[in-house]
Amino acid sequence: MKIGVFSDPHFCNATQFDTRRPSLSYGKLQTAMTEFKKQNVDIVFCLGDLTDHEAGEERESVYNNFKKITELIYSFGIPFYLVPGNHDYLMLSASELQSDFNLRTPPYVIECEKYCFILLDANYRSNMVRFDTAGVQWDDSNLPREQVDFLKNALDVSKKECIVLVHENLDPCVDKNHIIKNATEVRRVISHSKKVKLVIQGHYHWGAKSVIDGVTYLTLPAMCEGENNPYFVFDLD
Ligand SMILES: [Fe+2]
Repeated sequence: MKIGVFSDPHFCNATQFDTRRPSLSYGKLQTAMTEFKKQNVDIVFCLGDLTDHEAGEERESVYNNFKKITELIYSFGIPFYLVPGNHDYLMLSASELQSDFNLRTPPYVIECEKYCFILLDANYRSNMVRFDTAGVQWDDSNLPREQVDFLKNALDVSKKECIVLVHENLDPCVDKNHIIKNATEVRRVISHSKKVKLVIQGHYHWGAKSVIDGVTYLTLPAMCEGENNPYFVFDLD
């Protein structure tokens, strides 16, 4: 089975924002999706921050950019899942992502022939209110108790190898502001299960890789940074 993955396109009209080139992400994504199609990937995952917005930009413009980028992705006809990132909740709610763009709100499990993909949403502030209601605070991400229990249960019942996907970082080796506040507890659940093959994350734009208790924690470098186009095809078999 092959999956196509990318993270943090931050697509918006801005041409340059510090080291980011958000407007280039549309073309980069076109290239990535073309390659995914060519390689016959079964599923495409975005690890979050699909869009962004310029200072002072109207909500309607952000909405239209979200529509434009998702239409591009869907035009390739490959099953697509967004693991929501903090920027995805800046101007759009989880219910809008679901109703207008057919993007489910984690947690949920995608069960395939050999693997279970477990998608989580750590876009919650310390008071456990999600960013779309509470306001986005990029360095205060938390996985609520219900999702920790969901993860534990999904791992308990799975008869297959599992891949966990979440935007913010469970890897303790990246810059600490990017790490999910209760990451230690979540990693303990993952280690204990002995069923997780891989954890894929975004958020920390420079990318990282750590192996903890035999589990690989992979942080994808951000698509929006500079002129590079980091997208990946993983052959899981
Ligand atoms: Fe990001």
